[in-house]
Amino acid sequence: MVLEAIQYENGHLMILDQLLLPNETIYQSINSIQEGWEAIKLMKVRGAPAISIVAALSLAVELNKKTFLSKDELHNYVKESLQYLATSRPTAVNLCQVVKLITELSAEYFRNGSYTSEEMKNKLMQEMEKLLDSDIRINKLIGKNGGKHILEHCKTDSISILTHCNTGSLATAGYGTALGVIRWLFEDEKLSQAYCTETRPYNQGARLTAYELVHDKIPATLICDSMVASLMKSRKISAVVVGADRVAANGDTANKIGTYQIAVNAKYHGIPFYVASPKSSFDFSLSSGDLIPIEERPSNEMMSINSIPIAAKGINCWNPAFDVTPAELITGGIITEIGVFSPSELNNHIEELMSIELLK
Ligand code: MRU
Repeated sequence: MVLEAIQYENGHLMILDQLLLPNETIYQSINSIQEGWEAIKLMKVRGAPAISIVAALSLAVELNKKTFLSKDELHNYVKESLQYLATSRPTAVNLCQVVKLITELSAEYFRNGSYTSEEMKNKLMQEMEKLLDSDIRINKLIGKNGGKHILEHCKTDSISILTHCNTGSLATAGYGTALGVIRWLFEDEKLSQAYCTETRPYNQGARLTAYELVHDKIPATLICDSMVASLMKSRKISAVVVGADRVAANGDTANKIGTYQIAVNAKYHGIPFYVASPKSSFDFSLSSGDLIPIEERPSNEMMSINSIPIAAKGINCWNPAFDVTPAELITGGIITEIGVFSPSELNNHIEELMSIELLK
């Protein structure tokens, strides 16, 4: 059985409730943009690509149920719904990219005199439905590009990778980005061991990545976040590969909180540090990572696990969900569907990296 975070067919959307994993596998149907927004905000679905796809498909669900009297009414509804969905989580830029692309597409169909409102609605739905297949195709390319790059640079057939948070089938439409690289190396029989961090405070590593690795029978070991430096000192780690929520023009990368300290440790230990990022995670409008909005999550996500308190009542909490890894620490490169680039090379590839074909 292939793990699927998102299931969609003919205007019906289901998401795997990731808050219940690994103990329960329960799909929840999403029947409106409001329910899509809530599922994203509460992190029932999470991971930069998955968030953007669920946002778009919850709009498709809503369009499927509605009849619009005019194209004007439809276009305004699409624009307003997307603006609302974009407020769910601020850091991952993939959501903003999808919002921009669908809004532009809607404007294009609106101007095209040959479509009726019903035809325009159906065409928009068809385009949004393509996001699922397109994401899997992109992730497989990232997996292959990253896997090959690591093999060439490590010059060994026995690769061990450390990853952080969850970037696999549960964070995407399937296969995964950083976990896609691990998957590709495993399929190529070159992976000796994957190490995943627990990823406090929300434990996406322990709950989700460990679950995926066990599910897919990939040789893997779980560590606490505080064990990273010791792991790097005492065991052979060929490379670190993590995902991205937003890559700024200079290569600074926002990803799950804790990524930055892993990158510092990797630099100290001379271990190549890679970011796996689809083109849709780049934000060339921001010159550096200092400008990336960092989401802060409620303190209860730090203070308790499954509603059981684990910290002293009354303590102050600071709970940023992401941090920014400076480009100079991304020593292995940024793995995309069109190749692997060092942060300093990004400038020479802006046009290719900005041409996003999410809806093709
Ligand atoms: O808060 P989350 O679980 O949505 O954070 C997820 C991450 O930080 C992932 O590494 C990132 O979104 C890339 S997923 C392919």
